[in-house]
Amino acid sequence: MKTKEIKISISEFDKLDELSAADQELIQVAREIAQQAYAPYSNYQVGSALRLEDGTIVSGNNQENASSPLGNCAERTAIFWANANHPNLSIDTIVVTAIDQSRKAALKVSPCGACRQVMLEAEHRYKKPIRVILDSANKIEILQSASHLLPLSFNGDSLKSMG
Ligand code: THU
Repeated sequence: MKTKEIKISISEFDKLDELSAADQELIQVAREIAQQAYAPYSNYQVGSALRLEDGTIVSGNNQENASSPLGNCAERTAIFWANANHPNLSIDTIVVTAIDQSRKAALKVSPCGACRQVMLEAEHRYKKPIRVILDSANKIEILQSASHLLPLSFNGDSLKSMG
């Protein structure tokens, strides 16, 4: 029997001005697009902004539906839009932020499992880690790769071994 340990590191920042100007700008874009989210059922408005490898910024928000499984998260809205419109540009950084109508800013922001899987697909597609910035109400967390959010993941390499 072997026991393996998986370590991830998360950098935590208390204030926005501790971050680079580029990261601050991206967070502002995510906060703004969160205001336009369509979330009448959960009242949890999420915004996501991506910086692509050439500096282009793309953003998206959650889009809910009365038939709840049909809604889409902010991260996937932004990533799919980026992949559709800029298929040759890798994603450098993704920001996720949220507004809970009762608190105005979400205490804790953490991407759902489906969005983690979609972020990982983009990492594999472009063969480049995506920095992940989680903009919660009381702190900002930065991870150096989306893979840190989903260890032991399923990916395209898993399918190859079936061959
Ligand atoms: N949501 C996101 O947009 N991103 C996440 O990472 C977590 C959840 C959305 C889905 C739904 O519209 C609302 O937040 C409440 O779950």
